[in-house]
Amino acid sequence: MRKLLIAANWKMYKNPAESTAFLTHFAPLVKQNDRAEVVLCPPMTSLPALVDAARGKAVSIGAQTMHWLNEGAYTGETSPTMLTAIGATHVLIGHSERRQHFNETDTTVNLKLKSALAHGLVPIVCVGEHLHERESNKTADVLNLQVSVALEGIDPAALGPLVIAYEPVWAIGTGKTATPEIAEEAHKIIRAQLAKVAGTAVAAATRILYGGSVKPDNAASLCCLEDIDGALVGGASLDPGSFSQIVANATAR
Ligand code: 13P
Repeated sequence: MRKLLIAANWKMYKNPAESTAFLTHFAPLVKQNDRAEVVLCPPMTSLPALVDAARGKAVSIGAQTMHWLNEGAYTGETSPTMLTAIGATHVLIGHSERRQHFNETDTTVNLKLKSALAHGLVPIVCVGEHLHERESNKTADVLNLQVSVALEGIDPAALGPLVIAYEPVWAIGTGKTATPEIAEEAHKIIRAQLAKVAGTAVAAATRILYGGSVKPDNAASLCCLEDIDGALVGGASLDPGSFSQIVANATAR
C-alpha cells in the first residue's frame, strides 16, 4: 500500500511571516490525518522559519529546487547540504516552470535526483507533456524519455524515497484539470516505464502524484484512482482552508 502524499508548491508566494501564519491555521486542520503525508514547499527564504514551526506537527517541509553540488561558485543557488542543515526533508526537482524559465533539462534533473538521494532528501521529480505534444500523440514518448533520463545511472536499490509528480504543462495554473481518465492513463505510462528502467518492485512502490489545477472539488476523483498516489498543488495550496480541504477530500476514499 502506497501512502498518499499531498504536497503544496507555493512557487514565489509568501514571505516567512505569511508562511508561518499559514501553518498556524493549517496544522490543526490536518493533524488527525494518518492516511497521507503532507508537505509544504515554500520559497527558500521561508524554509528555516517553516521547518522550526512545523516541529511536532504532521507536516513536512521541502524546497522547490536545489543545485546538485554541495558548494561552489554558483551565484543564487542553494545546495542539498544547505537544505539538510536547516532540516528540510523534501525537494521538488525539474518542475516545468524550472524547465521553461531556468533552462532545466532531463540531464540536470538526473544530476539533482542523484544528489537528493545521496543526501537523504525525498525527491519529487516533476514530469509532464506540453499541449502540442499531447495533441500530436507524443505524450507517452515524452513521459518515457523524461523518466528514463531522470533515472539514468541510478541503482534501483537507491530509489526507495523516489516520488514522481505528473504535471501536464497545459493543466498548470490554467484551471484545466486533466480528467481522471487522462491522469490515470499517464500515471500508468509512467509506472510502466519505471518498471522497465528500474524493475517492478520500484514501479510498485513509487508514489506518483498528479499536479495541475487540483482544487478541493476535484481532489477526491483524482486521488481515488489506482495509480494516483496524491497531489502536487499550486494555487489552491496558498489558502489553509482550501489546502486542508484538498487533503481531506483526497484521503476520503
Ligand atoms: P496549479 O495547482 O496552480 O495548477 O499548479 C500546479 C503546480 O505547478 C504544482 O507544482
